[in-house]
Amino acid sequence: MKVDVLLGLQWGDEGKGKIVDVFTPNYNIIARFQGGPNAGHTLEFNGQKHVLHTIPSGIFHPKTKNIVGNGVIIDPYIFEKEVNKLRENGVKPEVNLFISKKAHLILPTHRLLDAVYEKSKGAQKIGSTLKGIGPCYTDKISRTGLRVGDLLLNDFATKYQQKKEQHHTIIDNFHFDTAEFLIDGMTFSEYESKWLDSCKTLIAMNLVDSEHMLNQALQRGENVLAEGAQGTMLDVDFGSYPFVTSSNTIVSSVCSGLGVAPQKIGRVFGVFKAYCTRVGSGPFPTELIDETGDELRNRGHEFGSTTGRPRRCGWLDLPALKYAIMLNGVTDLVITKADVMDDFDEIKVGEKYLYNQSELDYFPFEINDVNLKPTFTFHKGWKTDITKATTMSDLPQEFLDYLDYVEKQTLVPITIVSVGPDRKETIIRG
Ligand code: GDP
Ligand code: IMO
Ligand code: MG
Repeated sequence: MKVDVLLGLQWGDEGKGKIVDVFTPNYNIIARFQGGPNAGHTLEFNGQKHVLHTIPSGIFHPKTKNIVGNGVIIDPYIFEKEVNKLRENGVKPEVNLFISKKAHLILPTHRLLDAVYEKSKGAQKIGSTLKGIGPCYTDKISRTGLRVGDLLLNDFATKYQQKKEQHHTIIDNFHFDTAEFLIDGMTFSEYESKWLDSCKTLIAMNLVDSEHMLNQALQRGENVLAEGAQGTMLDVDFGSYPFVTSSNTIVSSVCSGLGVAPQKIGRVFGVFKAYCTRVGSGPFPTELIDETGDELRNRGHEFGSTTGRPRRCGWLDLPALKYAIMLNGVTDLVITKADVMDDFDEIKVGEKYLYNQSELDYFPFEINDVNLKPTFTFHKGWKTDITKATTMSDLPQEFLDYLDYVEKQTLVPITIVSVGPDRKETIIRG
């Protein structure tokens, strides 16, 4: 069998968690392959909303195994909070959750470093979620990180102390008053003591060599879905660098983040919102800094699932979407949140970029240049509540025309249409 992949085609928060939850009954395994608790994936069913950060979005289906792969980075403190919430909801993650021993640990000093680096950047700050993502991946690539499996070794305490001292040497060079950097509202030592305690919860989980587990499952004919975090425009190589996250968020990361060979990749589901959002700093050519942007934010409840920050909103950006489709080899498009624009008279789409008197159809190196501006096409709004639609024939013509336009531009079929946040508000196109 092959590994299907579901990932975001914009700047994150496309609705990946919701769609993974909808797909889960068709898969034996759901596996996260990159990112960490900077992710916030929202699932809604039975009138309840759940937000996951580290744990895959298949966890509510007890028959499905959920894997946190080696490419993911884990903060034991945030992980424990997530586990406790799941348990309150009757989920038993110790049964169907498996964690790679090769996944790296986010240490308390990684979070402190993240805060220090952001402060030192001043107005140029990235707008990080401050979960320690950049510093943890830096240590991984520098070959000095600590991994989940290290927690089981006798010398963990010594290694942890060494790492902490190294980090403090870097932090001291910035000459900031570190007492002002609270982590989740706690001083460093309060947080550190909770962090160390929470490692026990992590150790009590199924810690595995997940690459073997996955490849053996594929050999047995099991279905696997890899769940992306963040989005293609936040990819460290191809996104709007330096305003990106510190991992590769694209399909190639499935191979390195789970240990599966490229020929084992199957369908690639690319999720995109009918408009665009972005949290944090960085270029956003189709951004709306006006009443329409506010309307998208308010109707779409566009506030970060991880940090609660208001999300910047704008029109759909086709050059960026086409770029993301190219990088990921997307076979199926999934559109979400079109219902947010149900009342709009007119909908715009950024079709090309104008830069130095030339029209660009792609996402260039110069994306950070403020002189790069989109050109727009105009589409008639459907002015109909689409949230009750259960089949394509329930959808208004203007909306079908909008889907048709996107398909013709991208040359990829839209096979899933999400019309609301609930699991049930999903149309699978036959
Ligand atoms: P993720 O990070 O890609 O999983 O997305 P988030 O969970 O951060 O943000 C997506 C938000 O949109 C969540 O609040 C979802 O419940 C919600 N959502 C997902 N699909 C739809 C949809 O089709 N319509 C509406 N109105 N909300 C949706
Ligand atoms: P999901 O999986 C939206 C953004 C941050 C910041 C930049 C770098 O829910 O789609 P980092 O904490 O990685 O150093 O932040 O990336 N960012 C996200 N934006 N959704 C996410 O994840 C994100 N994860 C990181 O806001 O601009
Ligand atoms: Mg999110």
